[in-house]
This record gives sequence, structure tokens and C-alpha cells, in this order.
Amino acid sequence: MIENAKKYYIQTYGCQMNVADSNLMANHLNALGLKSTDNKKEADIIIVNTCTVRDHAEHRALSYVGKIKDLKKRNPDLKIVVAGCVAERLGENIKKRFSYVDLVFGAKSIEGFDKVFDKLLKSPSNPPLKKGEKEEFRNKINISKFVTIMRGCDNYCSYCIVPYVRGREKSRPINEIVYEITSMAENETKEVTLLGQNVNSYKSEGNDFADLLSAVNNVKGIERIRYMTSHPKDLSDKLIDAMANLEKVCEHIHLPLQSGSDRILNLMNRQYTSEKYMKLVDKLKNKIPDISLTTDILVGFPGETDEDFQKTLDIINKIQFSFMFAFKYSQRPLTNASKLGDTVAQKDIEERHAKILNAAYGISAEKNAKLIGTRQEVLVEEMRSGTFIGNTRTNKKVFINSEEDLFGRLVDVEITDAKVNSLTGKCI
Ligand code: 5AD
Ligand code: SF4
Repeated sequence: MIENAKKYYIQTYGCQMNVADSNLMANHLNALGLKSTDNKKEADIIIVNTCTVRDHAEHRALSYVGKIKDLKKRNPDLKIVVAGCVAERLGENIKKRFSYVDLVFGAKSIEGFDKVFDKLLKSPSNPPLKKGEKEEFRNKINISKFVTIMRGCDNYCSYCIVPYVRGREKSRPINEIVYEITSMAENETKEVTLLGQNVNSYKSEGNDFADLLSAVNNVKGIERIRYMTSHPKDLSDKLIDAMANLEKVCEHIHLPLQSGSDRILNLMNRQYTSEKYMKLVDKLKNKIPDISLTTDILVGFPGETDEDFQKTLDIINKIQFSFMFAFKYSQRPLTNASKLGDTVAQKDIEERHAKILNAAYGISAEKNAKLIGTRQEVLVEEMRSGTFIGNTRTNKKVFINSEEDLFGRLVDVEITDAKVNSLTGKCI
């Protein structure tokens, strides 16, 4: 036990990629001998990992930076770091608005953050970890981990700021990823989620994403593999076959549709049509009958008419996604869509968003109800007030009441009840 170790607190906004980046920073701080805290008032360093994908997300992150000013007043030694996509977009301007911020470093610099941190913390008063102390910093959710396999995006969907703040696409070497996952497996990780904006573009020494899946499938101790996200414009047959044939790859794919109107998809620069998307769905359902499909829908893109929107509703009713994330269009700087006129009235955006949510709830409730009485394999990742919580291979949350300690285990569960966003079950 290290006495008086410095403490850090990380506030994360946005996507899984940001969560993975926050974990990377946490691991480095742990290795320097700092301790994580859930109470920001006792922190010596606060990192705000920000998101700028929508205006609302950016505001939330920046207003958080505003709120922690008082903590700095109380403790002048507190270091405040603003990281992530807003940090990339606004850079040192953040310090003009929040003079008490010590360090701004953007999403593109994440790979060099360790040097920047070391400088910020100067020579930390905490000794590095000694052997055997590693357990002290065991992550609460070691069972399932995110692994960033590539960074950045080259797709330039016309509404999206990600390529500008996260930079060009770059894959991590396959050996490095497999090594990392092997050591996770040795430290009780059973499930990994491979992260990339478009995993179909993964490339390393002649290997593509399907090859990476095969390599991870061979890692002893890993029981489940998930990934996100696959861009429909180039979801390959090879990848669909790999999903169908590799036993550890879960029967779930997140395949953002965005819109059901070909005119809007074209304006979005998505590079597929609704027909091509439907063909992919058919192929996936044929090869992987139990597959669960989830998607992102963006409403209110400039110029979206009632007719365009109806096409989106039609296709989602046809496909019956297990889960849908619905987003209201938010105009982002630098993007091509920000130069388009013809904005949709806010009240129409709200109305369309509500209609998507309504459809999504109906479909999810119906699909989940059909699971009552079925058997599902569940990986138990959490325990909250006596109830165990886990996920099915199709990525549905299951609550299980059990006298037996199920934490970290793969169990067979019979589904006894279903809600829109979760299931309840008992161990068989
Ligand atoms: N406005 C609203 N939603 C957006 N997304 C990306 N950019 C925007 C934007 N400018 C959504 C897309 C994407 C998801 C991660 O975020 O649906 O798939
Ligand atoms: Fe944004 Fe499109 Fe890249 Fe996804 S694929 S991050 S929506 S530009």
C-alpha cells in the first residue's frame, strides 16, 4: 500500500474510443503510482476527456470544466487536464476561456500523452509500483475490455467532425494488439471489444480485420470477441464469413444506417444505397441466423424532407433492429454539411427523433419479449445490490438473482422476463 499516493479523477464524455483512451491514461497514471478516486474533491489531478461529435456533447464537457474551477480555488496544487476531441478542436483557446486549466492535449496526441503527463507531474512524489502491488489497481471491470485497434477516420461523412479531430486513419500493428489481449486474458479478461471507426479498413502487415479476428480467436482465455464499428460501404464477405466461423466472435454487429433515403445518404457521403444496405442485412441474417443488428440513425440532416424521413422509418420497420441510437443532426464546424443551406426546422427534428425512438422502443420490446423462455449464454460483469448483471452474446443486458457468486463467469441463463432495454433471467 502506498501512503499518501496522489489521486486522479477522470471524467469521460463520448464514445467507446474515448473510454478506451481514458483507460490508457488511467493505466499510465497507475504505473506512475497514482491512485484512482471516485471523489473529484480529493483528486490531485482531474482529466476531462471531451467529445465534440455534437454541439450538445461539447457544451456538456466544457460546462464541466467550468464547474471544477471551485476545486482549483480550494486546492491550487490541483492539476486540470482537458483532453480528447474538444481539446483537439479548440486547442489552447480552452485556456483563454478557462485560465485555470493546466494542460490541453487533443485526441490526435493521445499516443504521446505519457511524455506530456510525466512533464506535468514533474518527478512524481510517488514511487513507481513494486512487484505484487499491481492487484491494488485492479480495474473493476477487468472482465470485459475495450481495445483500440485503429485510430482516426478517412471517410469524411459530410456531417461528421471526427476525421478533423481524430485525424487520418492509422491501424495498430497486429502483433501489438494480440500481445495486449494475451496479457489482458492473463489478468482475467474474458471479453474484448475491438474498436475502430471503420474496422473494414484495418490493415497491418498484409493482414485485414478478418485476419485480426482469427488471431484474437486463438488467444487462450478470451471467450468472446466483439467489435465496432463496421461501415456498410465496405463490410466484406470475408468479414461476414469470419463472424460466422469463428466461435468466439459474438453474434452482434453495429452497422450505422444513418438514413433510409438514397438522396440523403448521397449528401451524407455515405457511399452506399438503402438497397445495398438491405442486401448486407440479408447476407448477415443468412450466414448468422441469430445475429443481432444495431444501428445509428441521424435525423434532420440538411434538406431531409418528410418523404426522406418516411423512407428511414420504412427501412427500420423492415429490418427490425435490436437496438437503435437516434441522433438529432447537429451542425459541426469544418464539415461539408455545415456549408449546406436548407436546414430542417428544430421542431421537425424533435418530432422525427421522437418517432424513431418510438419505433425503436416498439421493436426492441417485441424482440425482447420473444426471448422469454429461451436459454442465453451470459457473461456476468457486474454486481449491484445483490443482483448480477451481464450480457448475452447478442449484447443484451440481463439481470440475474443468484445466491451463488457469478461475478466474472459465463453462465447459462433462462430468460424469465423482458423489458425494452433489458432481460431478467435465472441460472440453469
Ligand atoms: N450530428 C448528429 N449526429 C452525429 N453523428 C455524427 N456526427 C453527427 C452530427 N454532426 C452520429 C452518427 C454516428 C454517431 C456516432 O454519431 O449517427 O454514427
Ligand atoms: Fe464520422 Fe463517418 Fe468516420 Fe463514422 S465513418 S467517424 S460517421 S466520418
